[in-house]
Amino acid sequence: MNEPTSEGRDALVIGAGGGIGAAMVEALLDDSSVRRVFAVSRDGQDADAQRHEVPCHLHCDHSDESIAAVVAELKAQEFSPGNIVITLGLLHDDDLQPEKAIERLNRDHLQQVLTVNTVLPALWLSALAPLLRRSERAVVACLSARVGSIGDNHLGGWYSYRASKAALNMMLKTAAVEFARRARGVKLIAFHPGTTDTRLSKPFQARVPEDKLFTPQFVAQSLLTQMQSASCDGQLSYVDWAGKTVPW
Ligand SMILES: NC(=O)c1ccc[n+]([C@@H]2O[C@H](COP(=O)([O-])OP(=O)(O)OC[C@H]3O[C@@H](n4cnc5c(N)ncnc54)[C@H](OP(=O)(O)O)[C@@H]3O)[C@@H](O)[C@H]2O)c1
Repeated sequence: MNEPTSEGRDALVIGAGGGIGAAMVEALLDDSSVRRVFAVSRDGQDADAQRHEVPCHLHCDHSDESIAAVVAELKAQEFSPGNIVITLGLLHDDDLQPEKAIERLNRDHLQQVLTVNTVLPALWLSALAPLLRRSERAVVACLSARVGSIGDNHLGGWYSYRASKAALNMMLKTAAVEFARRARGVKLIAFHPGTTDTRLSKPFQARVPEDKLFTPQFVAQSLLTQMQSASCDGQLSYVDWAGKTVPW
């Protein structure tokens, strides 16, 4: 029997103000099989709406109240989940840098990185679960990273970021086990985009060969293609931009 498709259903991008998030919104808007695109970000509301002609832009500061307000708005708009992409991620900012040595660990930085990379995506998945449970087919992709692979960790360093992505993968894996019982139409993907030319990777691009530094548009299209062909098999797929499985 043919599986249901996401055709005619809605898309949601959480983290639409980021490089990959914005490209994802564009790719979804260009896809005629997608009914509506909802784009969630912290700010840049007007600029984003104008730049991407996003029809449904929802502001969110990712507090419990703000997440609940977005979910209520989605319900009010009879959101029918087809493709959901969570692109939240933090590697560095003005005072936070990935740690090269264990002595560099800092309580506040560790907590910030874990919050953005693990806690917020998990809270979003939790808040969206009631909507997902009713869906015949919904694919939820969360931007993870290869550095979250424990088996693939040969270089070390980047303690907080690595740990936060490994923990994100475990959150998603655990949700996949639950959804296989309680929401069989849901497919979960932990996606490694490869090094992508965004503000997150800017300080670390120097040693990346030109053909291994991807545009956000290339990565967004690759993810969308994989989401659309994914089978609702009750598993978490941990895959990269080329569709190759990443080891846990
Ligand atoms: N670029 C790469 O080479 C690369 C490689 C591997 C994995 N990734 C992953 O891909 C995802 C997207 O990253 P990107 O490259 O597009 O980076 P980006 O342009 O810096 O976007 C980061 C995203 O995270 C959100 N964010 C950052 N700090 C936040 C905070 N304190 N609170 C709430 N949200 C916050 C931003 O939200 P707003 O939308 O509200 O601005 C934005 O959507 C991340 O999960 C990242 O770890 C990227």
